[in-house]
Amino acid sequence: MKVTVVGAGAVGASCAEYIALKNFAAEVCLLDIKEGYAEGKAMDLMQTASLNGFDTKVVGSTNDYSKTANSDVAVITSGIPRKPGMTREELIGTNAKIVKSVIDQLVEHSPEVTVIVVSNPMDTMAYLVHKATDLPKNRIIGMGGALDSARFKYRLAEALDCPISDVDGMVIGAHSDTGMVPLTRLATRNGVPASTFVDQARLDEVEQETRVGGATLTKLLGTSAWYAPGAAVSELVRAIAQDSGKMFPCSLYLEGEYGQNDICMGVPAIIGANGIEKIVEIELNEDEKAKFDEAADKVRQVNKALDV
Ligand code: LAC
Repeated sequence: MKVTVVGAGAVGASCAEYIALKNFAAEVCLLDIKEGYAEGKAMDLMQTASLNGFDTKVVGSTNDYSKTANSDVAVITSGIPRKPGMTREELIGTNAKIVKSVIDQLVEHSPEVTVIVVSNPMDTMAYLVHKATDLPKNRIIGMGGALDSARFKYRLAEALDCPISDVDGMVIGAHSDTGMVPLTRLATRNGVPASTFVDQARLDEVEQETRVGGATLTKLLGTSAWYAPGAAVSELVRAIAQDSGKMFPCSLYLEGEYGQNDICMGVPAIIGANGIEKIVEIELNEDEKAKFDEAADKVRQVNKALDV
């Protein structure tokens, strides 16, 4: 499998690193507009190969999309990250133009590509890719839910005072500070409902900590996070590479599912060789449904700013 990662900043480099480390891809092409930057990161990564034991070839390129030709998967991380105090939605003016130019060039060289969208505002950028290309909807995946669910599990394990591998849970909705819908009702520790171990007030805190997971890091780091976004992307790419059928919530184009149309929102899906193999519809309770619909209204407002 050949994977292109557009943007060699912190998130893009982290995606490339985790994909290489996990050793399931033949090649990762890392691309950036800054002269020599992607080549430098690619070379540095290749110099870890003998130490870390991977055979994935990492190649860097300064904006030469011919190097990305025939990619099976392309990850778009391009654009500006948010600064402390900013919402993801505020990035739309700058990032929409960048993502549009990136997707045009990617598809020209890899017409069969499956795209994973990371750039923010992520749900709107996934929608933009849908509108700006002829790619089938199963080949456009917004990665937010995979990341937000990992952050949810981290916070759940903290609340339950247990190993992270004991907990399971999902976040659907929008990849935004107010639009995430952590499905606390369905979260478990080894199949036992999380509510058995902690009270609702603590679970409410977990939900809120999850929603502002990215913002908390932006405040600490001065820019947005990269390890967990990179790891989330690498797991989505691995599910495609290995045709594993693993289920992740991710931002997908909805046509009636979850009562929504003509929008990309985070919902659970089966990921395999064809990208989205199946959208999984689960029964939401009234509160979850109301939160999901409210988040959709907000995403729709942001989508309106797009010129597509
Ligand atoms: C975050 C960015 C990638 O949540 O949206 O860290």
